Amino acid sequence: MESENSPSSIRSTESPVDNGFLQLAGFNAVIVGNGAIGGALLAALLRRPGLQRAFILGRTQKHDSNDPRVTHVYLDAEAPESVTAAAIAVADEVERLHCVINTVGMLHSEDCQPEKRLRDITAGQLQRSFTINAVLLPLLAQGFSSLLRHDEPAVLASLSARVGSIADNKLGGWYSYRATKAAQNMLLRTLSREWGVSHRNVSVVALHPGTVESPLSEPFISRGYRNRVLTPEESAAALLKVLADVRPGTTGAFYDWQGEPIPW
Ligand SMILES: NC(=O)c1ccc[n+]([C@@H]2O[C@H](COP(=O)([O-])OP(=O)(O)OC[C@H]3O[C@@H](n4cnc5c(N)ncnc54)[C@H](OP(=O)(O)O)[C@@H]3O)[C@@H](O)[C@H]2O)c1
Repeated sequence: MESENSPSSIRSTESPVDNGFLQLAGFNAVIVGNGAIGGALLAALLRRPGLQRAFILGRTQKHDSNDPRVTHVYLDAEAPESVTAAAIAVADEVERLHCVINTVGMLHSEDCQPEKRLRDITAGQLQRSFTINAVLLPLLAQGFSSLLRHDEPAVLASLSARVGSIADNKLGGWYSYRATKAAQNMLLRTLSREWGVSHRNVSVVALHPGTVESPLSEPFISRGYRNRVLTPEESAAALLKVLADVRPGTTGAFYDWQGEPIPW
């Protein structure tokens, strides 16, 4: 179990050797959300020879793949019954899962933008963000609980965001997104404590994917943006490297795409 007081980098300085589920011959993965990073994670997993089956869960089927290992399953984060139905559909196909990565998130939509100031907050936007950015995670954990619990290594990872770090919040703004990613972090950390007893094979981790080119980030990356912007493919490769480096027994941690811990 990760110490509360001394989070350490998991960046490997040695030759890259995958730990855990990625090393298994015949691992099964679920990617929740078929956006830019979700699609890139699926593509990266499909290049792994050990991958047996992959399921991509989302509202629409975006990533056409002729690969017979891939199945698209409908899921809408705003319809809890669809999460249960998706988990049942996956359980019809495989007996165990080794990797569930939640990539669903909302920063803006057709009718809402991130709030710059207090007067921009509406109850509706805050509640919708909470449903999509936070509530989905425990519903996924409920749905996939029995498939993840076995005697092989497994990971439940969820894409959070550095701006969801309460300790890191120096700029303010983006009330709903920040608050609901922070709520997701707490739900994840609490789940890690429960599964640290009941699901000892599962590492539960929150991940910041970096600033990544995607429909979610596009309106906020100006031409003069000074920080590094990753392609979805770069982010996916880095995130899989982080997951590969997670040691068995490490759980309840929050890492960025480089494997550096982020304060909660
Ligand atoms: N891009 C970045 O710079 C960045 C930085 C920090 C954190 N993140 C996090 O990374 C994750 C992936 O984001 P991304 O950059 O890949 O953006 P993206 O391409 O916009 O992907 C977001 C995905 O969330 C899905 N989604 C939203 N509401 C949903 C719902 N009700 N039910 C099912 N799916 C829903 C979207 O589905 P539809 O396609 O059907 O709308 C989309 O596939 C998010 O959690 C985001 O908060 C991204």
